Amino acid sequence: MDSASRIKLDKSRFDSVSLVCHAIDLCSHSCYPTEFLYVVCRYCCPQTVVETGVHYGASSAFILKALERTDGRLYSIDLPNVEYQRDDGQLHRDLLPLGSEPGFVVPDTLRGNWRLILGDSKKTLPSLLESIGDIDIFHHDSMHTYDVMSFEYETVWPYLKDEGLLLSHDVNWSKAFEHFCNRHSADYRIHRGIGIARKSS
Ligand SMILES: C[S@@+](CC[C@H](N)C(=O)[O-])C[C@H]1O[C@@H](n2cnc3c(N)ncnc32)[C@H](O)[C@@H]1O
Repeated sequence: MDSASRIKLDKSRFDSVSLVCHAIDLCSHSCYPTEFLYVVCRYCCPQTVVETGVHYGASSAFILKALERTDGRLYSIDLPNVEYQRDDGQLHRDLLPLGSEPGFVVPDTLRGNWRLILGDSKKTLPSLLESIGDIDIFHHDSMHTYDVMSFEYETVWPYLKDEGLLLSHDVNWSKAFEHFCNRHSADYRIHRGIGIARKSS
């Protein structure tokens, strides 16, 4: 039984932000911290999703599996094998197993609706968004520095549709998410380290 059929959600009782929190709770004991994205994408039925940070491809696979039903598309950006200094000074490494490619766990059967762009999100995200236009959901999980997180949120926000969701992993690594949401007076919540902002007109 998959995560979405295990639960009975009455959609009329949940707004989309509460839905994301509920999905995070449901999947909190999973070994995959991004499994909740499957539940969110199953219920929100987005046509276009953009994510930054692929690594092995667990988040990509969960999103793609959910998008299968509605023929939605996922655009993922990844700069592989990065080493960087976190804002708290610690060194952080995102290394792939030797000889493997970003997203190597994504099954071939799900790759038809997927475009993987390799490169720094600062260089690739603006041109990707310009080419695809409006999006339904954005998920940040690349470099968790104040600078990169702020850049990605600000770049994506004008492309996010009304009622679209900006989701961000590891928002407790910096104050970027809260500062961004306050700057834009966005409706937001932080739940188990995941930031959820909904765009409304
Ligand atoms: C935490 S991992 C992503 C995990 C993935 N979302 C999952 O849950 O399966 C972060 C990924 O972002 C990549 N990355 C780091 N800095 C980046 C940047 N500036 N632009 C794009 N990708 C970046 C890392 O190399 C790594 O593959």
